[in-house]
Amino acid sequence: MERNRLASWVAVIVGCGIALSCLARAALAAQPGTNAGAQSYARNCAVCHGDEREGILPGFPPLVGIKRQTSEDKLTSIIRAGKGRMPGFPQVQGEELTALLQYLGTAGPTVTSAGKKAEVSEQVAAGDVLFHQNCAFCHGRDAMGGETGPDLTQSKVVLGDKTGEKIAQVVREGKVEPKMPRFNFSTEEIASLVAFIRWRIKMAAEHPGGRRGVSVADLQTGNTEKGNAYFNGEGGCSKCHSATGDLAGVASRFQGLQLEERMLYPRGARATVAVALPSGEKVAGTLAYQDEFTIGLRDSQGTYRSWRVDRVTFAVDAPAEAHVEQFPKYTDDDVHNLMAYLQTLK
Ligand code: HEC
Ligand code: HEC
Ligand code: HEC
Repeated sequence: MERNRLASWVAVIVGCGIALSCLARAALAAQPGTNAGAQSYARNCAVCHGDEREGILPGFPPLVGIKRQTSEDKLTSIIRAGKGRMPGFPQVQGEELTALLQYLGTAGPTVTSAGKKAEVSEQVAAGDVLFHQNCAFCHGRDAMGGETGPDLTQSKVVLGDKTGEKIAQVVREGKVEPKMPRFNFSTEEIASLVAFIRWRIKMAAEHPGGRRGVSVADLQTGNTEKGNAYFNGEGGCSKCHSATGDLAGVASRFQGLQLEERMLYPRGARATVAVALPSGEKVAGTLAYQDEFTIGLRDSQGTYRSWRVDRVTFAVDAPAEAHVEQFPKYTDDDVHNLMAYLQTLK
């Protein structure tokens, strides 16, 4: 049935892209003591709920701390049968399910999470801070690509840069087209950024089920004409998009899996929320947090405010939600055909 097809497709895009990463993963799986729950999460859930369970708003709720709010029985039934727009994962059973539930009960990683920081050198930690402040909003928190910047862990420039000089040059000079600003950093600061990016490359290679190794060619198995027809017909994409308007050049801005992820769900798309308080006061702002119990926003001053959902009424406006609605409707072929079509929009 459709849901299983979607689940298997999700498994394919987060699954083994190249034999090497499969081997690395098999080795990890065989190694006792590695966290089977984290692996199951990375394989099945990360694509929607974020690599670190942080959620991808507004479509996908965060799962950090979910066990404090939701009983194990309820979680099990959500994983088995799905919920609302989430597909079920009936194939996650037995020991894997136990491990996954256990993993969902662990504290979410934060910047200060002791275990994590202790493992990296001071230089990497300094680069981490600098990267998060200056680079993450374009290249992603993990350097694996974001809104406008490419995945640095797969960049030929970065991977080929043995001395760090090329990275330093990009950072100091910036890029004109597509745009990256120039930064006035000291040699030491740049060295820490280089160390951080290299550490991310290492993590990305070791991280089971991470977005590794899917080449553009792997995603080019679809039929362009059918993709075009789906885009303008059944898929309803042309209600909001146009190949010659907003999506013109989308395949130059994003490649391969990154493009597939943008198509699947455009992270960072703006969503707004209007909240009516019991007092009658109305507050509107950018949606900043949402789960079953809490609604949070950033108001026009940039202040974060949140309420229990049972105390207020609210309305979320999120046009990109149309993507989530589309999930259960896609077949594997639809996705491959759409990808083939989008990749012609250079
Ligand atoms: C294809 C995307 C997708 C995948 C993959 C996915 N989820 Fe979800 N999940 C969702 C969506 C969307 C919701 C919100 C459901 C709703 O209310 O419509 C959700 C909701 C949940 C909730 C309820 C959270 C809340 O605050 O209400 C839990 C728990 C959950 N998912 C766990 C998981 C686990 C564990 C996995 C991996 C086995 C997983 N999900 C995989 C899309 C996904
Ligand atoms: C406003 C968005 C933005 C910010 C901020 C940004 N970058 Fe970039 N960066 C880009 C874009 C876009 C490219 C691709 C340029 C191209 O394709 O020629 C890029 C390219 C790069 C490259 C070369 C990758 C390649 O394969 O060509 C490196 C290295 C890099 N950025 C590092 C950084 C670092 C380190 C920071 C923070 C100090 C940073 N960037 C901040 C947008 C950004
Ligand atoms: C109800 C409106 C709506 C529909 C229908 C819709 N989208 Fe989107 N789409 C959006 C919004 C909103 C964004 C976020 C744009 C932004 O970030 O500014 C987006 C973003 C995207 C992006 C990323 C564009 C970029 O430059 O980052 C792609 C690719 C995409 N959509 C493809 C599709 C496809 C394929 C379909 C049909 C299956 C579809 N969309 C259906 C509203 C919609």
